[in-house]
Amino acid sequence: MDRTTRPLVIVGAFAGSLVIGLALMLWALGGLRTVAAPSAIGGPFQLTDQTGQTVTEKNLLGKPTLILFGFTHCPDVCPTELFEMSEVLRAMGKDADRVNAYFVSVDPERDTAAAMKDYLSSFDPHLRGLTGDSQAVAKIIGEYRVYAKKVPLKGGDYTMDHTALVYLMDRDGKFVAPFNLKQSPQQAAADLKHYL
Ligand code: NI
Repeated sequence: MDRTTRPLVIVGAFAGSLVIGLALMLWALGGLRTVAAPSAIGGPFQLTDQTGQTVTEKNLLGKPTLILFGFTHCPDVCPTELFEMSEVLRAMGKDADRVNAYFVSVDPERDTAAAMKDYLSSFDPHLRGLTGDSQAVAKIIGEYRVYAKKVPLKGGDYTMDHTALVYLMDRDGKFVAPFNLKQSPQQAAADLKHYL
């Protein structure tokens, strides 16, 4: 190798690694896009609300739907978000009847329909608490790509780490985007009314 070809080889190797790097990056981005595709969020489910009524993905059709995944023993995040959702529903006025608002348990072991009923009595009556057996809950958690993990506490008790975002689904039951609760209830209600 002489003095004139050596830099060319180095430049060539550099260009080659750039191409490989770019290809890897595009491949990774493609993968991410697949994972995050809105159509990949959601799917069929069968759960029971706090009054014992069956709720399935068909109940999402014809109304926009807000879905929060959580659990009744949640120390702060769930009650805060349920309070905020309640404020939005109140700001909706009569239109609150034209949306679905679901609180889906990630802790079916403790969240029976009766426990959900008791818990939700503190929030807006439009909220429906959905639970089921562990298999039915695992199914919807998987379909909505929810992160939920049991974390043992001292004394044999446990808590749940879980995704805290609120899902907005359109009238066709298709995922739109995470719903923004960090705005005034009036503004959030106005946002939601676009999907009626
Ligand atoms: Ni929570």
